[in-house]
Amino acid sequence: MKFFLDTANLEQIREGMALGIIDGVTTNPSLMAKEGIEGTEAVRAHYRRICELVQGDVSAEVLSTDYEGMIAEGAALAALDEHIVVKVPCTEAGIRAIRHFANRNISTNCTLIFSLGQAVLAAKAGASYVSPFVGRLDDISEDGVGLVASIVETFQTYGYDRNCQVLAASIRHTRHIIDCMEVGADVVTSPLKAILGLLQHPLTDKGLAQFVRDSEKLR
Ligand code: G3P
Repeated sequence: MKFFLDTANLEQIREGMALGIIDGVTTNPSLMAKEGIEGTEAVRAHYRRICELVQGDVSAEVLSTDYEGMIAEGAALAALDEHIVVKVPCTEAGIRAIRHFANRNISTNCTLIFSLGQAVLAAKAGASYVSPFVGRLDDISEDGVGLVASIVETFQTYGYDRNCQVLAASIRHTRHIIDCMEVGADVVTSPLKAILGLLQHPLTDKGLAQFVRDSEKLR
């Protein structure tokens, strides 16, 4: 399974990269806005800095909602760095844009996916990733992980998994990561805290404390 950090915060990215287990980063306009970045040049410079830190796929989302705007913005984003993956929303314009980028070998991440139908159309259009939003479905009492499982199984049935990766997004906590792992998501994108939660176990802490106590006898 690949672990992506879902953030535009450079400090969190540096911390995650130091662990040696982070494979990429996803951003979106809300995450970028949280960093206080203003203006097209500053935004593009920030994406370049993220790519320098990560050296893996970095999803950069277009702000346009129309087809012409998406393909113009996406081309400029893709030109920033070889690791940029152009992120577009799962709309009619977005699906058209994904096909446009696929025809030009530009990687894409189709985001704001909440149904199997959306994921299949994005894969058919040539998306490199589809991003089902697990947490936001759970927030309205739907089954986010169940959607991930359904997408994974359907992609295997029709062979979409050969070219399109299921990237579980809107991860709220560590259990989401485990659940998405168990249903076969290719990638989870998550805040670092939820990924670090995978490390936590009271028996590890208890066992290490005992080893430390006993090691005193060896000194
Ligand atoms: O990558 C999508 C993710 O950032 C959305 O997460 O917590 O806003 O649902 P959230």
